Amino acid sequence: MKAIFYNEYGSADILQFDDIPEAAEPGPGEIKIKVKASSVNPIDWKVRAGYLQKIFPQEFPVSPGRDGAGVIESVGSDVTEFKSGNNVVFVSGRGKGASAEYIILPTDRISPMPDTLSFSEAAGIPLSGVTSWIAIAEDAGELDGRKVLIHAGAGGVGGYAIQIARHFGAEVSATCSHANVDFVESLGASQVIAYDNQDFVEEVSEMDVVFDTMGGDVHKRSYDVLKKGGIMVCVNAAPFEDQSKKFGVTTKVIIVKDEGGPLRKLMALTVEGEIKALPVQEFPAAQAADAHRLSETGHIRGKIVLVFD
Ligand SMILES: NC(=O)c1ccc[n+]([C@@H]2O[C@H](COP(=O)([O-])OP(=O)(O)OC[C@H]3O[C@@H](n4cnc5c(N)ncnc54)[C@H](OP(=O)(O)O)[C@@H]3O)[C@@H](O)[C@H]2O)c1
Repeated sequence: MKAIFYNEYGSADILQFDDIPEAAEPGPGEIKIKVKASSVNPIDWKVRAGYLQKIFPQEFPVSPGRDGAGVIESVGSDVTEFKSGNNVVFVSGRGKGASAEYIILPTDRISPMPDTLSFSEAAGIPLSGVTSWIAIAEDAGELDGRKVLIHAGAGGVGGYAIQIARHFGAEVSATCSHANVDFVESLGASQVIAYDNQDFVEEVSEMDVVFDTMGGDVHKRSYDVLKKGGIMVCVNAAPFEDQSKKFGVTTKVIIVKDEGGPLRKLMALTVEGEIKALPVQEFPAAQAADAHRLSETGHIRGKIVLVFD
């Protein structure tokens, strides 16, 4: 089967799109998926560049990609919930490259794909959406009527986080560059702060929750806008110093696990129209290097998706 892979750490130039041995047949509790689209997430190029080799050492060849959408090719002996031909979305585990023609996964990493979504739209949801769900719906506490600041609202994680926070009744403020202000407003943020024109510390205060998707200086300055007793929910982005004790707040770094439950909830909310798939920028799988280079700019509106034939 064709897959994207690399044999050493390095720049996007090392990505190859070529034949590798085809995934075998699914075992008990597993499903084999013909991948139609997989998304590119920052973790893909951070691992590829070798930035995370101390935490997640890789065995080469590495096939990148953590999520996608496709059609079930075959199911394991005891699988009754899914059938060949069903359209599904999935989050793969680390080291299980989603950017390949076929992938085999356990059913708890898979959700039926609503027919209201295209494969590319659906492929952009799982990792960003599940990360946001865990941060906002599980770790941020009560949200109804609360003031929530979401950093990087134009990206994959922030874009779903805004919609999830609104779904649970939060009053959402978000940051992005000025070029993305209208887009971020359209996702449901009632206040959008253009970080290249305005300083968020001057624009918001007494927030109940800050969702920090940036780390570094953005994390440091976010303590100034949290009210006492507030919650700073963080993903692993740039390193930061935890100053929660000094400011009398709680800092939580989310752990993405048990992905299937949040994934199915997200799919149900897209069917209800509560959550809209973020816009996608599509690349043919053979142009994965260009897709990685775009992701590495750190200035993404919505999602980047690789399309397989
Ligand atoms: N398990 C985990 O801990 C976990 C899971 C998923 C993601 N992450 C991390 O979370 C981060 C975000 O992921 P993502 O998928 O959302 O990335 P993404 O889709 O590439 O989006 C990055 C966004 O950052 C925005 N941005 C850049 N500088 C900014 C600033 N100073 N203030 C506010 N926004 C700024 C950009 O908006 P503009 O274009 O408007 O500048 C862009 O939309 C990444 O570092 C990723 O590795 C961690």
